[in-house]
Amino acid sequence: MLKPKEYLEIIESGLQTLPMPSHLEGLYEPIRYTLAGGGKRIRPTLTLAVADALGCPTDRSLNTGLGLEMFHNFTLMHDDVMDRADVRRGRPTVHKKWDETTAILSGDAMLVMAGITLIRGLNNDAAREALDLYNRTAMEIFEGQQLDMNFEQRNDVTVDEYIEMIRLKTSVLLGCACEMGAIVADTTKEQRQAFYRYGERLGLAFQLQDDYLDTFGDPAVFGKQIGGDILNDKKTWLLINAMAERPEEVKKAMAITDPQEKIEAVKAIYRQLQLPERAATLIEQYSKEAIEALEELGLSPEAKEFFTDLALKASKRNH
Ligand code: IPE
Ligand code: IPE
Ligand code: MG
Ligand code: MG
Ligand code: MG
Repeated sequence: MLKPKEYLEIIESGLQTLPMPSHLEGLYEPIRYTLAGGGKRIRPTLTLAVADALGCPTDRSLNTGLGLEMFHNFTLMHDDVMDRADVRRGRPTVHKKWDETTAILSGDAMLVMAGITLIRGLNNDAAREALDLYNRTAMEIFEGQQLDMNFEQRNDVTVDEYIEMIRLKTSVLLGCACEMGAIVADTTKEQRQAFYRYGERLGLAFQLQDDYLDTFGDPAVFGKQIGGDILNDKKTWLLINAMAERPEEVKKAMAITDPQEKIEAVKAIYRQLQLPERAATLIEQYSKEAIEALEELGLSPEAKEFFTDLALKASKRNH
């Protein structure tokens, strides 16, 4: 196993060497811009690390990991249009720097390039299995994103509906990233499933933390506009619980037209209800479930420590 920083270096240099046409700047420059913007690279790290833990060297899993990172960045490019988000990774989003048609078309191109990259160099069996999982995961993510948008208009979303929505929009890609490493390493169905479970549980913790940071994060570190979820009436775990416990106060706060005042009013209710602390407890629980999934895998102590640390860090991240 390598250190997280070493996987990151391999991924960053892999991204820099991806074939990228130099003509039609309007189409390809936003892709270069997005991929060069940093990011934690958690999905390809999972793919490379899982493959590595199963004895498959990183040069054989790299393209698959890069394909998933490209797919993730495609979802972000479209998500920022859908969420009216102006800042990502501390820089203007593509639809702000260029325009919405650019974000749509460059995103489409990035989606196709992701699929090409994902299976580059795999043998036929692995490629077929990888594409099956990838296509299924992509459809689930679109369903999750549609639910997320539908929920903006609804005031009766339950916690269970929210958890299923974030499982679809976020967790399945982390599960997929782990299972992809196992596919490339050509391991058993049971190991594939246990790694998927690890990624999926980690993904729930990861999205809950993202929602927490969207309200309580440090803008300089988080890289996205704080309070965006509140302004969009996103039915996050925080808002759903606040609505259930203080319906009248929340209704009043959510009706405030001044954006900054609205954010502050909702935040104050979250604090009164100790929702940040309560969210942290739930996040810990999901990251514990991720760690439990590792038990079935018979990993080396070194690999077990790597994935345990990753689950703990992802649930305590500040960006
Ligand atoms: C952002 O993903 C979207 C979510 C699913 C929360 P990341 O938090 O992985 O974003 P980057 O790639 O590190 O910027
Ligand atoms: C993103 O959820 C999930 C996908 C992009 C599929 P968010 O909308 O919360 O992600 P951020 O906060 O914009 O990164
Ligand atoms: Mg969104
Ligand atoms: Mg968003
Ligand atoms: Mg978010």
